[in-house]
This record gives sequence, C-alpha cells and structure tokens, in this order.
Amino acid sequence: MPLLDAATRVRERAYAPYSRFKVGAAIRSVEGNMHVGCNVENVAYPEGTCAEAGAIAAMIAAGDTRIAEICVIADSPEPVPPCGGCRQKIAEFAAQEVVVTLCTTDGKSKQMTVAALLPGVFTAAHMDRS
Ligand code: THU
Repeated sequence: MPLLDAATRVRERAYAPYSRFKVGAAIRSVEGNMHVGCNVENVAYPEGTCAEAGAIAAMIAAGDTRIAEICVIADSPEPVPPCGGCRQKIAEFAAQEVVVTLCTTDGKSKQMTVAALLPGVFTAAHMDRS
C-alpha cells in the first residue's frame, strides 16, 4: 500500500527526542498526490507538532486542497489513534466518509472514517446565526 509505505518511511525522520515515540503520516489528496509528515517535537513541549499536522501542512503548501485518504503509523501496541487536535485538523480537510488507516510498525491496522473519529465535529455551520 503506497500510503503505508510512505508513512513508514517518513516516520523514520521524526524528531522525537523527548517522547521517543516516532509517528509518520501520509495523505493522498483528492488531486491524486501524496504528502507526508512526521512529528517534530520541541524542548518547549507544547510547541511540538504531530505527524498528521505536518502532512496536512505539506499538502496545503504543495497547492492541493483536500484529503482523499490518510494513513498514520507508530510503534505502538495497538493502531495509534490521532490525538483530538489532529482529528479536528483532519476534519477541516476531509469529507466525513474519508478513511483513516491507523497502523503499527508490527503490522496491525485499523480503519475508521473521519465521522467515527470525531463525532459532533465543530464546523463553520455552528457559527451561522442566520
Ligand atoms: N503524535 C503524533 O504525531 N500523532 C498522533 O496521532 C499521536 C501523537 C506525536 C506527538 C508527540 O510528538 C508524540 O507523538 C507523543 O505524544
């Protein structure tokens, strides 16, 4: 699976000296291109960024617009779920039915939709008073 291969490769580049938990993410955009990201930590811990955020930033910087599919991998006992903030970030750029594949480095995987990952998502419609 090309997305899994790309996420696996970029995971190796993660900068995670504090948690020692490397994460890789790969997106296939609706435009048909692949974009990758890894977590980049910081000694000021809250300044670190997640792999998913990096992949989304790469997608937007490349000029693509929407997520068609996303895969995340980490060396965890069970397929690693995106953090709450990343669920909201993914939902900004993905339709509710988009599949998120969660993987472990030892071959486990789980697939969820964006809707299942973030029920009750906050959207622009919630700011509409008219
Ligand atoms: N992390 C991600 O990059 N993505 C996730 O979905 C979960 C957590 C990173 C953030 C931090 O660098 C490390 O994993 C430990 O939380």
